[in-house]
Order: sequence, then structure tokens, then C-alpha cells
Amino acid sequence: STALPYPKKVAGKASAMPVNQPVNFNYPDESSPCYAIRMGNPVPGGVGPNRDIVAYSAMCTHMGCPVTYDGGSRTFKCGCHFSIFDPENHGQMVCGQATENLPSIKLEYDAATDTVHAVGVDGLIYGRQSNVL
Ligand code: FES
Repeated sequence: STALPYPKKVAGKASAMPVNQPVNFNYPDESSPCYAIRMGNPVPGGVGPNRDIVAYSAMCTHMGCPVTYDGGSRTFKCGCHFSIFDPENHGQMVCGQATENLPSIKLEYDAATDTVHAVGVDGLIYGRQSNVL
């Protein structure tokens, strides 16, 4: 339970994000690694001019190992116990040991400055009792 507000933090410039390659940032604090990724096609929850930018916690919901992006399958994969998460479907766990989807970072896009901001988290970041500490 938390009443603490989420911070608003810059995740990057939309036009500077390469397609199908993750960009690292930290949210909601420095100890929480995340990936923003521009999929190249509109996806659920996507922001930006093409509604194709989404972001997720980079820590697997099973035991907190770092996930890595596989551009071939367009999924995030955890090397520890082989969980797979789909960034084009809200971070849904496709298979593996985890029981929760990859926490999704809520994004907002400011067209005037082409800036993507992180403004919240859907799902609980691994190892936390609340996302904002
Ligand atoms: Fe990722 Fe176990 S820590 S599958």
C-alpha cells in the first residue's frame, strides 16, 4: 500500500529511439532498471506519433533476474529460468516460471518536445512491496 505519488521522468525522445531496440532508463527510482522500446507498429498502450513506444521493468517477475530483449522474436527473455514476456501485449508472460506479467511503465508523450515521460507503473516491480519507496 502506498499513497506516494509517482515521479514524472524523461524516458527519451521518440524520434531518437531506434525501432526494435530497447533503450535503458530507470524508473521510478535509480534502483529500478527499465527498458523503453519503439516497436515500429502500433501496440496496446503504445505512445508517440505512431503509438508504438512502450516500456517495462527490466527485472523478471519470477526472481528478479535481468531480462534481455530479443529482436528476432520481439520478446523480453529471462536467462535464469527462461521466462518470456511480450512487449506488444502489455508485457504478458508468454511462458516460463514467472506468474506475473512484466510490470508495464505508464508513458506520456509530449508532441511539442517529442519527449516520452514515464509517469507510473502497472504491476509490482520485483522485490518491492510498493513501487514508490
Ligand atoms: Fe526470470 Fe526465474 S528469474 S524466470
